[in-house]
Amino acid sequence: MTSHRDFIDNMPKTELHLHIEGSLEPELMFTLAKRNNISLPYGSVEEVRAAYQFTELQDFLDIYYQGMSVLITEQDFHDLTWAYLERIKADNVMHTEIFFDPQGHTERGIAFDTVVSGITRALAEGEQKLGITSRLILCFLRHLSEEAAFETLKDALRHKDKIIGVGLDSSELGHPPSKFERVFRAAREEGFLLVAHAGEEGPPEYVIEALDLLQVDRLDHGNRSLEDEALTRRLADMQIALTVCPLSNHKLAGVKDMRKHPIKTMLEKGLKATVNSDDPAYFGGYMNDNYHAIDEALGLTRDQIITLARNGIDASFTSEAEKQSMHARLAAYLAG
Ligand code: ADE
Ligand code: ZN
Repeated sequence: MTSHRDFIDNMPKTELHLHIEGSLEPELMFTLAKRNNISLPYGSVEEVRAAYQFTELQDFLDIYYQGMSVLITEQDFHDLTWAYLERIKADNVMHTEIFFDPQGHTERGIAFDTVVSGITRALAEGEQKLGITSRLILCFLRHLSEEAAFETLKDALRHKDKIIGVGLDSSELGHPPSKFERVFRAAREEGFLLVAHAGEEGPPEYVIEALDLLQVDRLDHGNRSLEDEALTRRLADMQIALTVCPLSNHKLAGVKDMRKHPIKTMLEKGLKATVNSDDPAYFGGYMNDNYHAIDEALGLTRDQIITLARNGIDASFTSEAEKQSMHARLAAYLAG
């Protein structure tokens, strides 16, 4: 019997919650800063890593928005995305759905089209050269206004062929899903699939709003749903997927001890949980590290690990044929 470590590492898997700007490793940050003549408030890669101490989501977001300021040209967005794809190839990721934060760039004077062009060029290469399929999801920054989200949606309409869905991220507390009900309705009418970060730091009521007002197709995080029994039952009945991010939760969201991470409870309660890395350059690990962290802390069964991987396939924004093909790859792996 192979060890859980090897079993996880070699297992074909999907990633459904990844902020591409959160995959910016300090080394690339320095390279791009130099290329674009931008001065960083850090003297070395080690200094950057040492600054990654967060006690809550906002601590991280401040550093994350500062980090992405080195991304200027189409080539920068390409190189960022390509580096991520090469890295996840090593983790046997077969399909990834990546978020990007256009307002983090357009606010700095970078054109929306530049961002989309660089990312999608790398994604196409990822499919051709690495065999990794992908989808792209735009996130509205929830600390900004509804009006700004509508402006961003307008930009996205020019790229409907490249963007499958819209999401909601950034500072959760004080910015409930209800603030974006109208823009999500407009996005739905345009044919975009919908996701939202909810219940990461925010209360169960925010998850309920994401379901009832935004009508999301998938929930990002959703951890705090477990505080509400009726909501937990509802999520289990609906079989709506939760994109859970273990190392992120450990760094940001109050999971002080991985042995208390809720993902095992989620599975036991019948929730459709998946494993994801969120912002791997900031939280200390990519996909395999996230699986290892929960497996080692929670003592998952092999069946639970497989369920997490299957959920990731079922919850992807791909066609039935693509899902079948990914399930077949996983089945072939399990058959040895
Ligand atoms: N943006 C990037 N990562 C995020 C997270 N974990 N929560 C909210 N917004 C984010
Ligand atoms: Zn996230």
